[in-house]
This record gives sequence, C-alpha cells and structure tokens, in this order.
Amino acid sequence: MCGIFAITSNKRNDIGEILVECAEKLTYRGYDTVGIATVAKNRIHLRKDKGKFDEVAEKLRLSEMPGSKGIAQLRWATFGAPSKLNAQPHLDCDEDLCAAHNGNILNFLPLREQYTEEGHIVRSMNDGEICVHAVERYYDQSGDLIDAIRKGCSDLKGDYAFAVMHRDDDKIYAVKMGSSLFAGIGDGETCVSSDLPSILPVTREIVNIHDGEMIILTPETLEIRSISKGTVIERNPYTSDADIRVAQKGGYPHFMLKEIHEQVSATRTLFSAIREPYISQFVDTLIEANRVFFIACGSSYHAAVVGSYYFNELANIAAIPVIGGQFTSLYGESIGEKDVAVCVSQSGETKDVIDAVHHSLKKNTKILGVVNVLGSTLTHLSDLYLPLGSGFEISVPATKTYTSQVTLFDFLAIQAGRKKGVLNQNQAESKLNALKTQLSPLIEETISTTTLKARSLAPYLSRFSHFYVLGHGLTHGVALEGALKIKEVCYIVADGMYSSEFKHGPLSIVDKGYPIIFAIAPDDAEHIVNHLAEVECRGARIIATGEDHPLLRRYVTEEDFLTVPKSNQNLSPILQAIPLQLLAYHLATYKDIDPDYPRNISKTLTVR
Ligand code: M6R
Repeated sequence: MCGIFAITSNKRNDIGEILVECAEKLTYRGYDTVGIATVAKNRIHLRKDKGKFDEVAEKLRLSEMPGSKGIAQLRWATFGAPSKLNAQPHLDCDEDLCAAHNGNILNFLPLREQYTEEGHIVRSMNDGEICVHAVERYYDQSGDLIDAIRKGCSDLKGDYAFAVMHRDDDKIYAVKMGSSLFAGIGDGETCVSSDLPSILPVTREIVNIHDGEMIILTPETLEIRSISKGTVIERNPYTSDADIRVAQKGGYPHFMLKEIHEQVSATRTLFSAIREPYISQFVDTLIEANRVFFIACGSSYHAAVVGSYYFNELANIAAIPVIGGQFTSLYGESIGEKDVAVCVSQSGETKDVIDAVHHSLKKNTKILGVVNVLGSTLTHLSDLYLPLGSGFEISVPATKTYTSQVTLFDFLAIQAGRKKGVLNQNQAESKLNALKTQLSPLIEETISTTTLKARSLAPYLSRFSHFYVLGHGLTHGVALEGALKIKEVCYIVADGMYSSEFKHGPLSIVDKGYPIIFAIAPDDAEHIVNHLAEVECRGARIIATGEDHPLLRRYVTEEDFLTVPKSNQNLSPILQAIPLQLLAYHLATYKDIDPDYPRNISKTLTVR
C-alpha cells in the first residue's frame, strides 16, 4: 500500500513546502520510495528516490520545489523493486501528464506489453506508471482529460486510487476505485489524499469520495463525477473535528510509545464513541444470528480471538474468529443471510477484510463493522458499525486500537450475556462498571509498573533469533498479539501459541536459558502451572505477564515477572498485552530499530 497527496493552490508558488508537510503524515503507508512532482510555468518538475521520507525530502530538497500544484507519493513496494526508477509519480511519454497511485493494477503486465506495442514508453516495472499511460492513451485521441481519465479507468483492473495533473492548467484530477481517498476544500486551495490526517494542515472541510468516483480540483472548486456515467454528483463537505496534535509525537521518542501511553485515554473515549441505540442493534444482531464470524487481520484478528473467548464465556455465543484472507475459502460457500460477519479493522481498508465483506454481501450476510477510521471503506460497506474513537494511530504496529478492540468485545459480550440471561443484572452491571471506571487507571498503573522490567529484559532477549509467547483461554490472543509485536518491530521470530499445544512438538526446542513468555489470566494460574513446569524442568527461562500468584512465583523470578495490577479474569488479559507491547518497543529500540516504521511493512494493506 502507498499514500498519495495532491494539492492545487492560488496562493502559493512554493508548493513543495505544503506537499512535504502533508505527505510526511502519510509515512506510515509506505517508506520504500518517495517522490514529488510539481508544475511551475507549464513545466513538470519531478524529484524522487528510494528511501524514507525524511531522508529523501532532505536529500532532494523537496520542500523547495516550485509551483502552485503538485502530487506527492510514498510507496510500499509490490510491483517493481524499491528503486528510483520505480518510484512514483510517473510521467507520460511526452512529459505533459504526471500521475501517482495507491493500490494494485492487477493487469499491469499485459497492459504494459500492449501499451509498449502501441508505442508508449513505459519506463519502470511499477504498476503505478500504467495509470498515466492509460490516461495518455485516450487523451492523445480526444484532448479531453476528463473523458481520457474515465476511459483510462476502464483499461485498469484492480483496486486503486490515483491523482493525475497536466502541465498546462491549474487542475488536479483524482479517481477512487477501491483504495481510500479523501478531498479537502481550503481557502484558495483544494487537495486530495489517501487519508484524512494529511489534509488537516490545509483544511478541516472534508469531502469523502466513494468508489467509482473521480474528482476535478481547481484552487477554488471541487467537482465529483461518476466515472462510469460522467454525471456530476453533489455532496456537501463536513467539518472534521479530528485532533491534529494526535499526529505529532508530543515529546515521546516514537509514536509507538506515545500510543502505548494513549491506551489510558483511548479506553475511556471508546465509551463515548459508541452509543445507544447502535450498541443494542449490534448486540441483538449477534444474538439473533445463526453463525457469527469475527473477520480480521493481524492485530485486529488477535483482538477478535480474545473477543471470541469473551463471547463464549460471558454470552454463550460461539463467535468464530477468521483471518480475513481465509474467510471466503473456509466459509464462503456455506454462509448465508442468517449469518453475521463482524469485520474488525483499525483502518477499515484492509483488502483481505474488504474482500470478505464483498463476498458476504453477495450472500446477503449481514455486515457489522468495528472500525477506527471513520469514512473508511468498511464504514461505507457495513450495515452497522461501531467506532473505536481511538484517534489517529500513526505507528505501524497497532497498540491502542488493539486494546480498544478487545475492550469493546468485552463490553459487547457482557451486554449480550445480560440480554440472554447468561449474566444476571448485578453481574453485568458490576462487569460493565469495572470496564468503564477501573480499566483506564489500571492501564496507567500497568504501564508505570512494567516499563522498567520490560526495558531490562531487552538485552537478554536480543540474543535470541526465535522464542515463544504462550497463552491459554482468554490469553491465547494476547500471546499471538505479543508475538506479532515482537516479530514486527524486533525482527525476531516470536511464535505465539496455545500453551497446551506446546508439548505437541515445539517443546523439543527448549534447552538451558531458552526464553518462553507466558500470558496468564488469573483464574487459569493453577492450570497453567503444568505448562510452566514442562518447560522449566528443561531449563527454559520463563518470563510471564499476569497477576501475582504464589504458584507462579515458583517458576518466575521477580525480574522476569511483568506483573499487572490485580483486577479480574475479564480485565487482566487486556492489561497483559501492555507489558508485551512495551517489551517489543524496548527490544526494538535496544536493537536500534525504528519501531514506528519497521522494514517491509505498511500500516494499511490495501492489497490482497
Ligand atoms: O487496519 P487493520 O486493523 O485492518 O490492519 C490489520 C493488520 O494489517 C494490522 O493489525 C497489522 O497486523 C499491524 N501492523 C500489527 O501491529
């Protein structure tokens, strides 16, 4: 996945400066290559290279680029290696058009062959380049750019968005065909971007663009048209109240650490973001469903795994957690209109999840969304969605949104349990009250009591290229999530597993000093002791996260016990993920890895 930002202005002739300020906020979407094209005096200026945004911006002095309109692109490589040649934006053959895209053009290779045979000079192996040639192909015939863009889109297959500009006018054109796109109307300037935060330095007046639409921007106007019909679509802007400070580090060395700390407030704002009657509708839909699927990827999937345990225990509802990319091949044939697909996604754009949504829609399966980014594709496609209200999550590793997702699942399971009579009124009230009033201070306490220990463990763990994180019951998802964080930001093969499965093979890996991290829910301590004993007697060094317990103390030393404050069986798994996030963070910084932008990863994966 990549990020694009484009702007046209009648009050700037040094457009590079604002392009850099806004595009920098898209860094989380891709950091393989960076490029900016501007138009000044009817000439396209193009600077691009391989590397992270800050490095390339400084080296190529991108903020000094002249002109009053321009397009910036940050790339996460799929088609074509990360290189200067494959960096975007791309020029057409005679260098009067320039474009950049986000997404995938699946028929890139046959189109490249076809266009080359027709005489086009396709310079790179990057699928984004084909967008500008597709437009040029028709523009050369008609001289009508709107018509050429519409026809160009009919050549392209895949999910994408692109922005294109001509050197002879003040317009920016953009299309949305499956990848995210937002437009902004400022004072004497308009812009378009892959996400909302990058628009906020220009304006708070936002227009959401839908799939199948194109926009034509001048500094003073924004026109939306249907790509297939060409007709003009009226849509009013709304004023975004998003907090722009959230997109800054606020004194923390990394966004990841800032966002770990923001879990204290995020678990509070969650409860003001979700409202009746939507909560009741959501819960009723789950209770009435034939089968419930929790569909998600990565950290959102791990939150869904924890959520499934909550629904079993608190509401006696079997919610089946499924990885987004697996859903159609595992359940696609059997799902129907009585089933419910709960799609969980921070970004609301993850392609594997969106594909599952499209498939479910064809089968008339109801779609419920759990989503952080409002205006995202998932919010448009869901019959009903609940927002997480976590604010922007900039760091590539998910932290606060994972915790808010788990908290929301706990909340919904309690509500469902009350409605079904699995929990009586008092039990439900007391659990809800604990969630709403105790969780946030407990998270604060967890951060403050486990930070030092997590940091101290970094030198020891950094000596290993692989180890295990084990969980049981409610903490299974916690272990998976802890292991993912360590893999993602520390480049260590941390394998998350169900602790009772460990003896069925992996136990043979254990020898003296081998690290095994356990996440232990309070009521499971007695049961888990077996699993601790199995590895301890073979020399493993046990690191644990959980509540203090005399039985566990026999196996875990003080320095290796990331003790979370006393709470209960429901809240403790939420807390236990936090020391694991801190462990991953400190291990990454100890290894001199920037945890905000781990190599090869993009925060939002809009490709299959
Ligand atoms: O935006 P989503 O929640 O759909 O993203 C899903 C995964 O790509 C994401 O959680 C990923 O695993 C994180 N970078 C992990 O920290």
